Order: sequence, then structure tokens, then C-alpha cells
Amino acid sequence: MKDTPINYNVVKQKIEESRLPVVGNATIREIVRLVNEIIKVTGDRYIRMEMGVPGLDPPDVGIQGEIDALKRGVASKYPMIDGITVIKPEIKRFVKLFMNIDVEEEGCLPTVGAMQGAFAAYLVAARANAEKDTVLFIDPGFPVQKMQLKVLGYKYETFDVYDYRGEKLREKLESYFRNGNISSVIYSNPNNPSWICFTEQELQIIAELANKYDVIVIEDIAYFAMDFRTDLSKPGEPPYQPTVANYTDNYMLLLSGSKVFSYAGQRIGMMIISPELFKRRYPDLKRFFSSDQFGYAMIFGALYTLSAGTCHSAQYGMAAMLKAANDGKFNFVEVVKEYGERARIMKKMFTGNGFNMVYDTDIDKPIADGFYFTFSYPGMTGAELLEELLYYGISAIALTITGSERLEGLRACVSQVSRDQFKDLEYRLKKFKEHH
Ligand SMILES: Cc1ncc(COP(=O)(O)O)c(C=O)c1O
Repeated sequence: MKDTPINYNVVKQKIEESRLPVVGNATIREIVRLVNEIIKVTGDRYIRMEMGVPGLDPPDVGIQGEIDALKRGVASKYPMIDGITVIKPEIKRFVKLFMNIDVEEEGCLPTVGAMQGAFAAYLVAARANAEKDTVLFIDPGFPVQKMQLKVLGYKYETFDVYDYRGEKLREKLESYFRNGNISSVIYSNPNNPSWICFTEQELQIIAELANKYDVIVIEDIAYFAMDFRTDLSKPGEPPYQPTVANYTDNYMLLLSGSKVFSYAGQRIGMMIISPELFKRRYPDLKRFFSSDQFGYAMIFGALYTLSAGTCHSAQYGMAAMLKAANDGKFNFVEVVKEYGERARIMKKMFTGNGFNMVYDTDIDKPIADGFYFTFSYPGMTGAELLEELLYYGISAIALTITGSERLEGLRACVSQVSRDQFKDLEYRLKKFKEHH
């Protein structure tokens, strides 16, 4: 028994009671429950890094937009499935002003979070061509997106991009695409969990191969503008949020209100379908939908059957935030830069105490400080490290559950760790180092 910052016996007992065969391989929500159980007994505060919940307040402009709409009585009315009239032009403007991409309002659709956006994307993109029955993940990735495919009973393949950055990505991607069974390819950028950001060269490679093999790119930009190495906050001014949409018409974008707008509770995100893809006809869609047109099948097939649209008032809240951002009155990026600052400080504490960063560069540039970082400790697997850290009051998730092949790594999310916990974190990491 060691003199660990959290009572050794309690942690050990709670781990046993959890009946998880390997704690280190538990899902995010299982870790959340286990830590809650330990806290209930010890009363100690944990450095909670397992879950990607925003740790900042939602913007007033969104809340006010929503309150006003509720007072006008929107709660009793079904919203249009493809979005209320005020949100569609604001999404289109947002895409133009912050990405410099031209899209049509008809392809700008609110979704119940980027989570529903991905689910709906699979329902249509993965069934558009009967010969293409497999979705490809450029991993590591957001674990629930694979769970969605499992729930749907669809096939997927995945590879860890760690060893395939830059030009190496071309051959790797092509080795999947050339088999002819890949309907769509999905990745997040910035990436959850590794926080790598694809370079323009990499986005171009993805686009070129998507064009060559007619694969639909599902670009998940849940962490829009959160690569804080460049200031992406000025509407209509470069630099813009990097996107595959600069290089192909065969794309769908998934945006989220949850992270950069701290609006996770209202479950609102956005799907943007390229004008060409929206209009494109896929005869095989008729197997499932009344129309063979991609955009029509998405709205009146997928989004209708999933939830018949997105919460009415949340759409008004989101529209108000987008309008304020588009008008240059609300710098939504400035607010969340706090995450980058926290990451910078916390990463220093980890590396100062013998830990290593796992995904640490974007080819030739140090990785950005943002919502997540990945770390390891010499001589330990990620599963061992995760379990051991629980005795030190620190929780995270194993990278293996994200499709990463870095068996040694854990993912840390900085959002729930407040600055007044930094002293505790430093002390606990020091203790950990002392004991290991
Ligand atoms: C990469 C990625 N995509 C999508 C989501 C889901 O976002 P939302 O809350 O908008 O459903 C998350 C949330 O953690 C995420 O990390």
C-alpha cells in the first residue's frame, strides 16, 4: 500500500466493485461513474480529464436569442426540418466568413449536435452506392462515431494516422479507396483525441483521392477555429478554418455548438452539404428514401426520421450567436482560448514530471495547445497508467478506445480542470513520479 494522494483502499475497492475487466479499457462514461463513486466516499476533488464537456459559460447572446424565441411561443411549434429561416442564411454566412467557402442555404442544416449530424451522414452517404458498403475512419477518433456504425450494422475500416502524416497519407488512403468499397471517409480536424490538425497538403490529398475514387468526405469540425496557433476569429479575413472543401465538391461538414460556443446542453450542431453533393442523384438511395437526390434524402429521409428537426429555440439561440459572430460583434474564439492556455500549463506539468506527449507534432510544427492532449509514462501501457493515476486523483481515457494504435497513451481533456486545481495537479504528478 502506498501513500497515494487519494485513499488507496477506497480506490482499490471501487475499482474491484466496478467489475470492469480492465479499468484502463473502460469507456468514457464508465470512467465517469467510477470516479464519481470514489469521490462519493473520499470527498476528494479529482483532476477530471476523461470527458469533453465545455467548462465555460454559454454566451449571453445565445441564451437571450433562445429566451426571446421561447417567449414568442416557439416551444409549441414544430420547426422546419431543414432549419428555421433565420438560421440558414447565418450558417451560409458563417461558412463564407470563417472558412471562405461558398455554399447554398438549402445545404445548411441544423442538427441535434454534430452527433446526430454524423448519424444522419452515415444513413445517406454510406448507402448512396450499393457497391460501397464501408465507412473509413482516419483515426484516432471520437469513439461514439464508431458506436453509431455498430448500432446501424454498417461496416467500417480504420487506420491510425500517426505513422501516415504528410505525403505518406496518400498511399495509405489509396490502399483503402482502391478496393472500391469505401463510401465515405470521416475524420475530425482539429482531431479528437490527439489534437493533431491536418496540413493543407494533407487536406488536399484527402480531396484528390475522394475525387478520384468518388468517396464522400465527412469532415467533422466540432472544434471549429480551435487551433489557436493561428487566429481564425476575424470574419471575412484570412486565415480561415482549414477545410477539405477548398479542394473537392464531394464533402459534408459537421459543426457543433457544443465546444466553441459552449452550448453542449442545447444539443445543436450544423451539417453543411456542398451544393454539388446536395443536388447529386444516387439511384441506390431509392432503396431507402423516397428520393434519389442526396440533399432531399438527407432532409426528408434521415433528419425527418431521426428527430423531425432540431429544437426550435436552440436554433434561435444558435442563429443569434452565428449572427453576432458574422457581424463581428462576438469573438467566439477569444472566449475558448482559455482551453489552450490551460493545455499549455498542464502539458508543462506533465512533461516536467517524467511524462511524454504522444501525438506531439503536425509534421514539422509542435502540436497546438487546445481542448485535448495525449500523454504517456515510460514503461507503462495506457491501461496501466490510467488505473494507476486514479490513485493520484487524476482521470483520463485510454487512447486505444479511440482507434489509436499508441497502446501507451492516454487522452486528457482540459476543459473541466480549473486553474485553482493546478497546484493539486502539480503535487499529484510529483507524487506519481516519486512512486514510479
Ligand atoms: C470530434 C467530435 N465530433 C462530434 C462531437 C459531438 O458533438 P455534439 O455535442 O455537437 O453532438 C464531439 C464531442 O465530443 C467530438 O469530439
